[in-house]
Amino acid sequence: MITIKSKHELSLMKCAGAHLAEIFCNLSSMVTPGATTLALDKWIEAELKKRQLISQSKGYRGYRHASCISINHELVHGIPSAHVTVREGDLVKIDICAAWKNYCADSARCFAVGVVSSDVRKLMETATNALNSGIEKTYAGKRLFDISAAVQTEVERAGFGVVRDFCGHGIGKHMHEEPEIPNYGHAGTGPELRVGMALAIEPMITQGDYRIAVASDGWTASTIDGSLAAHVEDTVIVTENGPEVITRL
Ligand code: MF3
Ligand code: CO
Repeated sequence: MITIKSKHELSLMKCAGAHLAEIFCNLSSMVTPGATTLALDKWIEAELKKRQLISQSKGYRGYRHASCISINHELVHGIPSAHVTVREGDLVKIDICAAWKNYCADSARCFAVGVVSSDVRKLMETATNALNSGIEKTYAGKRLFDISAAVQTEVERAGFGVVRDFCGHGIGKHMHEEPEIPNYGHAGTGPELRVGMALAIEPMITQGDYRIAVASDGWTASTIDGSLAAHVEDTVIVTENGPEVITRL
């Protein structure tokens, strides 16, 4: 069942989302050559604490960090490490989910480290365009897979791959709620969107083959062919007036 959130519940989610947006804004100047992914995660953890937000990843199925940080061919769920240093030219993806008074927001952004290749730029831009195309379909009365199809069309038009192994999701009291939101599908199908639904829309795309494998650490998901991967995510509420993105400033 896809739950409909009350105005009060949505206001708590919006507070979580606004904090995440600020944190991501401040992160952009920190994702620089020489930074370790553990140092970035520790900063994120301190920010969440300062803002009285509760990380939803820390403690989730044994995961121990406040963020997932994935670099280049890594797509999602990279584990922050003191041994992993961000370098010039890298494409870094950071994913944070946190709750304010028990209500969650979930967001991910790509960061280009210093000067990056045109390949990196184009992949990042396509992920953002795909997310925006999905958000544009998030209206009451539309169908869930209108979002999926819009994302897929945008990605494949640019010649990139749509990952099949991971999906977006409903969100609220829990980080992951119904429905699953694939990044591919047929427009005009799926459950009807209604006012009060909250969706985490998260295109996951690859430069080459869309197939992904999880590393022996049990978490890090990377492209099998070693090609670059991008991931962006926003939490979106269906309102009477259309989509409201709660994880942007
Ligand atoms: N924030 C991720 C998502 O978009 C999930 C985090 S996975 C975790 O669904 F293991 F780190 F929690
Ligand atoms: Co998510």
